[in-house]
Amino acid sequence: MSRIAYVNGQYRPLSEPLIEVEDRGYQFADAIYEVWGVEKGALLDNEGHFARLERSLGELKIKPPFSRVALMTILKEVQRRNRLRDGLLYLQVSRGVAPRDHAFPVYARPVVVITAKRVDPALVATRAATGIAVVSVPETRWARCDIKSVGLLPNVLAKQAAREAGAFEAWFVDADGFVMEGTSSNAWIVDSAGVLRTQPLSNRILHGVTRATLMRIAAEHQMKVEERPFTLAEALAAREAYISSATNAAIPVVRIDGRQIGDGKPGPVARALRDAYFGAATAQS
Ligand code: PDD
Repeated sequence: MSRIAYVNGQYRPLSEPLIEVEDRGYQFADAIYEVWGVEKGALLDNEGHFARLERSLGELKIKPPFSRVALMTILKEVQRRNRLRDGLLYLQVSRGVAPRDHAFPVYARPVVVITAKRVDPALVATRAATGIAVVSVPETRWARCDIKSVGLLPNVLAKQAAREAGAFEAWFVDADGFVMEGTSSNAWIVDSAGVLRTQPLSNRILHGVTRATLMRIAAEHQMKVEERPFTLAEALAAREAYISSATNAAIPVVRIDGRQIGDGKPGPVARALRDAYFGAATAQS
């Protein structure tokens, strides 16, 4: 079955040429994106992803091309046409097509693309059961990591460095030794005092929707959570570490830069959060 994409009002096979050469997303990364996790047919954390989409568009001064209701209808249609049960829905909005010039064009209609990608839930479950390895990389990104921009070259290079080191994710570490986040996930530890810690919200990280849901779950389970920066050294000495993202929920980290975290096995906190996540994220939708 060929995959079907939504492109500005049409549902077309992904194999067809769909994007124009002078799309500003293609030429300038003048575009934002959003990713919804899909589990057993349900879109996860709808509200949070819609809110962040609207925020990203606002930061780029792109008028939202749809109401939430209209967008939901299209997302569901892309899901249906691709028979997507488990995986993700990807949405990208660029400023539009115009002759190449850095400043905003006077007339340009946003280009909206939505695709679906299947992910084998067994594969993710295995990843969660074994835990993942992470490598640290220097922070090389821009000063507006809170915008979900498609300008992801530092993330691409860091993820590739992780792959080449046999790891699943790379963590960006700033000049003071603080862990910011992963290339496509937020970073967490359970510190030596048993406190769940993650970088506070600022322009330096993406405001993860999964992160927010995990914070709520942790509070409901009477776990102590703090949005307080942690260093790489603290992560190496932590009881547990884990990552969060729409496509992976919570996944335990068992090795950082080749060194074992805790007892080298997925810890109870990450497991409990993961178990609670899908119910909580479906309820949010
Ligand atoms: N990535 N940090 C970065 C840099 C990310 O790209 C992502 C998401 C997250 C986690 O955010 P959320 O929990 O809202 O998915 C944090 C998506 C999944 C991606 O790029 O595919």
